[in-house]
Amino acid sequence: MRAIITGVGHFVPDRKLTNKDLEQMVDTSDEWITTRTGIKERRILEKDKGTSYMGVKAAKMVLEQRGISADELDLILVSTATPDMMFPSTAALIQKELKATNCWGFDLSAGCAGFVCALATASQFIETGKYKKIMVIGADKMSSIVNYEDRNTCVLFGDAAGAVLLEPSNTDDLGIEDFLLYLDGSGDKSLYMAGGGSLMPATLETVDNQMHYLYQDGKTVFKFAVTNMADVSKKILEKNRLSGEDIKLFIPHQANLRIIDAAAKKMKINRDQFVINIENYGNTTTATIPLAMSEAYQEGRMQKGDWIVLSTFGAGYTWGSLLFKWAID
Ligand code: UT7
Repeated sequence: MRAIITGVGHFVPDRKLTNKDLEQMVDTSDEWITTRTGIKERRILEKDKGTSYMGVKAAKMVLEQRGISADELDLILVSTATPDMMFPSTAALIQKELKATNCWGFDLSAGCAGFVCALATASQFIETGKYKKIMVIGADKMSSIVNYEDRNTCVLFGDAAGAVLLEPSNTDDLGIEDFLLYLDGSGDKSLYMAGGGSLMPATLETVDNQMHYLYQDGKTVFKFAVTNMADVSKKILEKNRLSGEDIKLFIPHQANLRIIDAAAKKMKINRDQFVINIENYGNTTTATIPLAMSEAYQEGRMQKGDWIVLSTFGAGYTWGSLLFKWAID
C-alpha cells in the first residue's frame, strides 16, 4: 500500500515585516538582505497567538479541500521547533481545536527538516495499513524565539504553517516512493536555542544572557546546507533511477535563495523546476516546504502523476529528501 497526499493547505499571518521595517530596527539594509538571502518580507503572528493557531488554520484548509470532517482523522502529527508550550504537545492543542475526536497525535522535533521527517514517519503508518487518514502539519512561530536586536538572525525568519493529508492508495503508481533522512548531532553548536530546556531551565540569568533566542552560525550552516541538500537530492534520484528531467518540481527548504541556487547549479537542474517563495515569507522553518507545496498546487504547477522531490536541512544537523508522485487531480 502507498501513502498519497490527498490535500494540502497553509496559513500565513496577515502582518508583514518588510526589509524596510527591519532597516528601522537593526543596522541592515534592503540591499544586504535581498542580495545575501533573497528575502523581501516575512509574516509575523500576533503576540497572543501560538503555533497551534496557525496549525489549526492550515489543517482546516486541508479538511475543507478534501471535504472531510476532523473526526475522520486517525492521527495528527505536528513538526515544530516552537511548540505553544513544552507540554502538552502542539498536536494535542490542535486536536482540541479541530474537535478531531477519533485520533491520537504527537509532536516531532527536527528543526527545519521536521516536515519531511513527519511525512516520512506518517507514510509508514499508512503503508502498514494501520491508519487511513493522517494530518501532517509543519508550523513555526519563529518570531517567538528571534532576537529582533540581532541582525544576523532577525532578517531571516518568519511565521507560517502548512499541512497535508496522507491517505492510502490502491494503486502503486502514485504517492510516496522513497525517502532518505540523516542526522548528525555534531551540528549542535551551529544552530540552537540554549535556554528553556531541561539543561538550562529559564532563570533570570538565562534571560539576561539572551539564551531563549535562536543562535545560528550562518556561515557554517550555509556550507553544510549547500553540499548536503544537493547531494541528498542527487542520491534519491540515482537510487530510484531517475534524472533531473524526470522531476516536475523540486520543493526545497527555503532558508536562503543562494543556497537554493547553489544546490540547483550543483545538481545541474533548471531553476524553473524549483519552487521558490522565500522572497515573500523568509525562512519559516518546518513550514517552508508544505507552504511552498500548497502555493505551487494553487498555482497549478503539478498534475497527477508528476514526480516531486522535497529536500530539506536544518538544526541537528538533520537533512534529507523525499520522492513522491503527485496524486491529486
Ligand atoms: O533553516 C535553517 C538553516 N539555516 C540556514 O540555512 C542559514 C544558512 N546561512 C545563511 O543563509 C547565511 O550564512 C546568512 C544569510 C545567515 C549570512 O550570510 P553570509 O553571506 O554568510 O554573511 P556573513 O554571516 O558572513 O556576514 C557577512 C557580513 C558580516 O560583516 P563583516 O564581519 O564582514 O564586517 C556580518 O556582520 O555581513 C554582516 N551582516 C549583516 N549586514 C547587514 C550579517 N547580517 C547582516 C545584516 N545586515 N542583516
